[in-house]
Amino acid sequence: MAIALVCPGRTTHLWIDLLKAQDPSLQVDVWPDLVPGRLYEMAITWNHPPGSLAAIPGLKCVSSLGAGVDHIMFDETFPEGIPVTRIVDAGLATEMAEYVTLMTLVFKRELFSHLERQRARIWRKDAATKQDRVLAVGVMGVGEMGSAIIRSLTALEIPVVGWSRTTRHPQLSRSYAGPNEFRDFLGATNILVCALPLYRETEGILCRETFYSLPHGSYVINVGRGRHLIEEDLLSALDDGQVAHAALDVFRTEPLPEEHPFWSHPHILLTTHIAAITRPENVARQLVENYHRVCANEPLLNTVDRSRGY
Ligand SMILES: NC(=O)c1ccc[n+]([C@@H]2O[C@H](COP(=O)([O-])OP(=O)(O)OC[C@H]3O[C@@H](n4cnc5c(N)ncnc54)[C@H](OP(=O)(O)O)[C@@H]3O)[C@@H](O)[C@H]2O)c1
Repeated sequence: MAIALVCPGRTTHLWIDLLKAQDPSLQVDVWPDLVPGRLYEMAITWNHPPGSLAAIPGLKCVSSLGAGVDHIMFDETFPEGIPVTRIVDAGLATEMAEYVTLMTLVFKRELFSHLERQRARIWRKDAATKQDRVLAVGVMGVGEMGSAIIRSLTALEIPVVGWSRTTRHPQLSRSYAGPNEFRDFLGATNILVCALPLYRETEGILCRETFYSLPHGSYVINVGRGRHLIEEDLLSALDDGQVAHAALDVFRTEPLPEEHPFWSHPHILLTTHIAAITRPENVARQLVENYHRVCANEPLLNTVDRSRGY
């Protein structure tokens, strides 16, 4: 009975300590140094090499180390029938809400223009402000992350609209759902936030058609996944001013290659996938709880609907 940690490139000793602090009898081994002949009921993973999970003997459950599970779901060798769980954590959602609120305020209060004026030593009190021109922040995905974003923005009295697959968010007076309402949603927002899970249906959703359905001069914030975004479409929408600025936390290739044009684009503010980070001390308990449940054949916490994709 053991847990396999399959998180290449990550420091694992803190994870092991915190998991064992929950249950000192736990056996936790780090992939690829798994013990031959030992059965691993659970794997905890982040960016595992495709194929590695399928080769682990005894697997009854795989948990993502984060809120997203795209790295597991896109692995075509991952066996069907093994339940997948993810992290649901209030601290993670709060960090995400902080990040999106920060970027919204950067755009709303035109921080880019003020920084330019500072660099040029220009004192102007008539600073153009888009305060009155913020139609609404449009949040794509109103789940754990989206809901925290919505709470944070509405607390600042910033208008918000939401869009999801099926859910109409109860806190919003304008909430859209499904592909048929996507255009209306886009027309109602000029700060677009992507907080969607990545799977077949949402891949490439931040594309030319989406950008040109927004009012001219809108803003885009991507905190979902890099593969939500068609990078060339964003660059050309920025070139002709259809998108005024973008804040990007996630990228198709991470780390973002040094020569990538996003690094030096004057209208892109980028961060290195840090919008919301899983804190081991906050989530070790839910991981060990799921391990105990899997061993006892009990229903798991925070399961993903594999047929749906998220
Ligand atoms: N950058 C970071 O640091 C960071 C940190 C954490 C998470 N994330 C990203 O945030 C994502 C969302 O996490 P979460 O915990 O909020 O997920 P969640 O609770 O599962 O919520 C997902 C939301 O997206 C909606 N959705 C799914 N497919 C859709 C579609 N085809 N069209 C429209 N809406 C759709 C869902 O609609 P329904 O309500 O109708 O199901 C739901 O509202 C994660 O998957 C991850 O990629 C990024």
